[in-house]
Amino acid sequence: RTTAVILAGGTGQRVGLSIPKQLLKIAGKAVIEHTLTTFEQADSIDDIIVLMAPGYVPDVEKIVAKAGFTKVKKIIEGGSTRNETTERAIEALGEGLAEGEDLNVLFHDAVRPLLSRRVIDDCVVALERYQAVDVAIPSADTIIVTRTHGEDGEFITEIPDRSRLRRGQTPQAFKLSTIKRAYEVAAGDPNFQATDDCSVVLKYLPDVPINVVAGDEYNMKVTQPVDVFIADKLFQLASTAAPEQVSEDAYRELLTGKTIVIFGG
Ligand code: CTP
Repeated sequence: RTTAVILAGGTGQRVGLSIPKQLLKIAGKAVIEHTLTTFEQADSIDDIIVLMAPGYVPDVEKIVAKAGFTKVKKIIEGGSTRNETTERAIEALGEGLAEGEDLNVLFHDAVRPLLSRRVIDDCVVALERYQAVDVAIPSADTIIVTRTHGEDGEFITEIPDRSRLRRGQTPQAFKLSTIKRAYEVAAGDPNFQATDDCSVVLKYLPDVPINVVAGDEYNMKVTQPVDVFIADKLFQLASTAAPEQVSEDAYRELLTGKTIVIFGG
């Protein structure tokens, strides 16, 4: 079976609203509802669990009940860091499992509402061969590595070859047994620090290959205030073109067409 884990335990400090950004309404729906819709409609996903910012579980329960999502099996509170939220998910997923049973898990940022079903399906297919899978896109920008020298400011130490650099997105997909083992090893490291889940596997299970699936430019993460505006515009473009109920993937296809017309014209 394949379970999608929606990581929604953050409070969105950088966007800086009074509610977590995953509850912000974009194109008439909360960001997290767009995300859940995509997973609910993906044939390759059997179950969904949501880890929500403390105090906001009832908000997600309401959204799920109203939308009638049938795959959402658990809505629980996340932890104080993204990795703690993942650990809670791993624990929750282990509870219903029989001895020796494994599971495919896809960890996805709730705040990437424009994910396509193509990426989800590619992750699930990759899990047939690999125990760990990341989703990434090439970097248009040159990425520089810097070091800060006190009051003199920041200086470049390295400019990696751009053709090999990728920008990591989500989902990040794993066999549950693998990501569980990675976190168990990490628990013994007093200096444990990470911002995503693939880096935990890379560091603590270095022998496990992490396959990379092609991501999608539209799969943006709502992080800064400007991203709310961009995501809203993207959804608006699609909804003006198709006011009737259409799937998230149809939205994306429409967006692609529209974008070509707008920017190419
Ligand atoms: N996340 C989580 N648990 C946390 C922190 C983050 O599940 N303790 C989730 C967020 O809800 C989000 C995703 O991880 O869906 C990506 O994180 P980020 O964009 O950094 O979200 P926030 O932590 O909410 O944002 P900020 O850092 O600006 O506060």
